[in-house]
Amino acid sequence: MSFYIAGTGSALPEKVISNDDLAQFLDTSDEWIYTRTGIRRRHVLTHERLDDLAIQSAKTALEDAKITGEELDLILCATMRGDTYTPSLACVIGEAVGAHAPAFDVNAACVGVLYCMEVADAFISSKKAKNVLIVAAEAMSKLVDWTDRATCVLFGDGTGAMVVRAGEGRLSGVLSTNPDSKVIRMPNIEGLNSPYNCVEQEKLAIYMDGGEVYKFAVNAMGKNIEQVCERAGLTPADVDWYLPHQANVRIIDASLKKFHIDKSKALLNISECGNMSATSLMVLLDEYAKKGTFRPGDKLLLVAFGAGLTSGAVLVEWKKASVG
Ligand code: UT7
Repeated sequence: MSFYIAGTGSALPEKVISNDDLAQFLDTSDEWIYTRTGIRRRHVLTHERLDDLAIQSAKTALEDAKITGEELDLILCATMRGDTYTPSLACVIGEAVGAHAPAFDVNAACVGVLYCMEVADAFISSKKAKNVLIVAAEAMSKLVDWTDRATCVLFGDGTGAMVVRAGEGRLSGVLSTNPDSKVIRMPNIEGLNSPYNCVEQEKLAIYMDGGEVYKFAVNAMGKNIEQVCERAGLTPADVDWYLPHQANVRIIDASLKKFHIDKSKALLNISECGNMSATSLMVLLDEYAKKGTFRPGDKLLLVAFGAGLTSGAVLVEWKKASVG
């Protein structure tokens, strides 16, 4: 016994920034950004708090799953950080939805949702939980250096959520880490006003070696697709829908090419949202679920890579009735 996806939700900031908007203050262009990445626009936090959007996503997913917060047995939040270091964002969400379940954050960067799904599987298959809420929330606009054109143009902000419930649906999962603390790095605040701290503060912004991440991503996504299919006794051709991490269209194309997968099976929203780290997969899932793209019995493969360097894939069978 594992889980099936019973409900989804998402909430994005109101403000949308186009590539042309960025070209107003950066030495960049819509042409460069779109042809190198597939990104046209991204949502950016202005007056909203990340916590509030995450709560909104969670409430929508609970409603969609037709359960209340009180019925939850576990809350997991994939995030690099919420609006507070402590309590965790998962606890903040738990309070807002009226839950009394154990709640904690998971930081596996862009792969966070897949790590949460595998933690949910462990709780559910060992009968410690029946209903699990998984939320993803990232405020990338507050982590990037807005003078660094090589990174800030890539990211966007957003939140999403899913409820997974005990039952048949998850077919297999694979997680891995190829430890590397330099290729993508976002330092924490060092010392603040501790009179004892002698460690120098690193620059507070995301650093990324784009080329190295690109090579890792293509290999890791290909390997994870192969492994997760093998574990489920399937081939990549048996998958109905690919939901890849939305970092770069060229990375997605290159990793699917190996399996001669028809491009129309790969779902995308990168042009409108950019890379929202852990949130990307969740918003993608909610968007296409609400569009009625998935039919009961469809096989969905979620695959991602990110800082750590982490990677993973989860294969699920869609159980919900079609929308519309
Ligand atoms: O969620 C995981 C996070 N990260 C990723 O997934 C990133 C993975 N990597 C990538 O997606 C790509 O490596 C990038 C999109 C980051 C970069 O694409 P690229 O084709 O590898 O470009 P590049 O880094 O080799 O840069 C080519 C040129 C450079 O100029 P020179 O040295 O050739 O004169 C850059 O300075 O493009 C320049 N450049 C830009 N030009 C205009 C870099 N950023 C920009 C920009 N606008 N925004």
